[in-house]
Amino acid sequence: MPRIYVHPLPVRIWHWINAFGFIAMIVTGFQIRYIGLIDLMSFRSAVVLHEWIGFVLIGNFFIWLIFYLFTDKIRVYHPELNPMKHFQSSLRQAMFYGYGIFKGDPNPHHVSVYEKFNSMQSMSYQVIMLLLVPLQFWTGVLLWDVKRFSGMIDVLGGVRVVDTAHVLIFIFFSGFIFMHIYLATLGHTRMAHITSMITGYEETPDEHGHAEANKH
Ligand code: HEM
Repeated sequence: MPRIYVHPLPVRIWHWINAFGFIAMIVTGFQIRYIGLIDLMSFRSAVVLHEWIGFVLIGNFFIWLIFYLFTDKIRVYHPELNPMKHFQSSLRQAMFYGYGIFKGDPNPHHVSVYEKFNSMQSMSYQVIMLLLVPLQFWTGVLLWDVKRFSGMIDVLGGVRVVDTAHVLIFIFFSGFIFMHIYLATLGHTRMAHITSMITGYEETPDEHGHAEANKH
């Protein structure tokens, strides 16, 4: 079956460290915040793990950022410059996930090297990677040493505000993971997208089983 190289090595390394790290952060974060509700480890161990893995994830983020900033692959994040067209194709994609897919319609998005994401993906990944993830790292670092960063915490409205932002984004990511994994299983086979994030290659059959690779 024809294949397209869509996920270069730095993206794959970043992604899997990030994925397992996020799961660990959610588990330890849950243990810290909702103490008594689960009892997987001591409060102290949860805090220490949460801090260490947090700093690993901050460093890891720069693999993703530097890779896209210094290669032309950044084009995968803005293939369509016309906002109206972008909105229309996002709507078409949402209709497919919400309705068409259950009738067996073909996916309206066709993968190519610079269009590995559909419009919904390119938009939501940008909001996540350029807004929510940095905000989570920033609030996390502030909470890591509230004394050292007391000046900045006060400017932002106090520990309660910073902590609430951190917890709200934590709740978002806890839900995002389920949605993301569900969507990741909607390739031409259950494992197609997940395998592509491991090997780098996405297989590209069309709805009749023919090659899509040469169309783009
Ligand atoms: C076990 C958990 C996860 C699985 C199985 C998974 C799976 C995948 C797969 C298959 C892709 C390929 C493209 C796609 O289908 O959208 C992808 C891309 C992506 N995932 Fe995940 N993911 C996981 C966790 C996460 C987490 C926790 C984040 C949090 C930020 C995340 C952020 C992203 C981003 C930003 C991309 C696009 C990467 C790029 O720039 O090429 N993933 N994921």
